[in-house]
Amino acid sequence: MSRLKGKIAVITGANSGIGLASAKRFVAEGAHVYITGRRQEELDKAIQAVGAGVTAVQGDVSNLEDLDRLFAKVRSDHGRIDVLFANAGLGATEPLGKITESAYDLVFGVNVKGTIFTVQKGLPLMRDGGSIILTGSTTASMGTPAFSIYSASKAAIRNLARSWTLDLKGTGIRVNVLSPGATATPGLLNGLARTSKKSTRQYFGYFSDGNSDPRGKYVWLVMDAILASGAAVVRRVLASVAEKSK
Ligand SMILES: NC(=O)c1ccc[n+]([C@@H]2O[C@H](COP(=O)([O-])OP(=O)(O)OC[C@H]3O[C@@H](n4cnc5c(N)ncnc54)[C@H](OP(=O)(O)O)[C@@H]3O)[C@@H](O)[C@H]2O)c1
Repeated sequence: MSRLKGKIAVITGANSGIGLASAKRFVAEGAHVYITGRRQEELDKAIQAVGAGVTAVQGDVSNLEDLDRLFAKVRSDHGRIDVLFANAGLGATEPLGKITESAYDLVFGVNVKGTIFTVQKGLPLMRDGGSIILTGSTTASMGTPAFSIYSASKAAIRNLARSWTLDLKGTGIRVNVLSPGATATPGLLNGLARTSKKSTRQYFGYFSDGNSDPRGKYVWLVMDAILASGAAVVRRVLASVAEKSK
């Protein structure tokens, strides 16, 4: 398969979970992929796991100098980006009344500020036909106990995309949001391990055990977002839901 042959992709937060699964798929489809993350050791492991066709640039998406360094590297290597997947994100489980300033700063700093400046700083390298994908969450449009800060940050992502499609009108650059439900990634599993079993069930009653590997499903949605319009992605999701409910 070579649906991304010759494409240059940047995936933030790709030394683990959904980002890493996407990097593997992108490379298998012929793209050269830049992956990022804060932990160099995990990036080294990711390079081994993905193989040729990947470049790792260590950095924190909430740090603007790190973003400048990332995009300077892509510019000097290739001069362009075809796919910008702003995926890095994290959460904190703190109920109202116990929300700390540090958790707020961390979650909004990475999920909202990090996404805004990843896209803004990567945009000058994008051309007509380019695809920007943001990772939102199903919790952006629902209530989840003790998860309000994370949920609100993902609601912001959804709205950023709505406004950015208007800002980018006429450029040929598309913006889509991938909104995963609970997915068995190291990020979610480590978060759950920090909570008690009872509260885990309370917070994530809809959590599946990951046996069906939903990461694969999200990666295919990401591929759709790159290759087709948002409307086509919605049609495909609705078709798949209709198929499952038969
Ligand atoms: N898993 C789910 O159930 C689920 C559901 C809805 C949405 N999501 C979203 O999906 C995305 C990926 O999460 P995941 O589940 O795959 O979790 P994961 O396995 O923890 O992956 C998160 C990735 O983001 C990176 N990251 C975190 N903070 C960063 C920062 N400040 N700068 C750069 N990279 C950073 C992590 O690397 P470092 O730690 O090395 O920085 C890691 O590569 C996130 O946006 C998450 O909110 C996940």
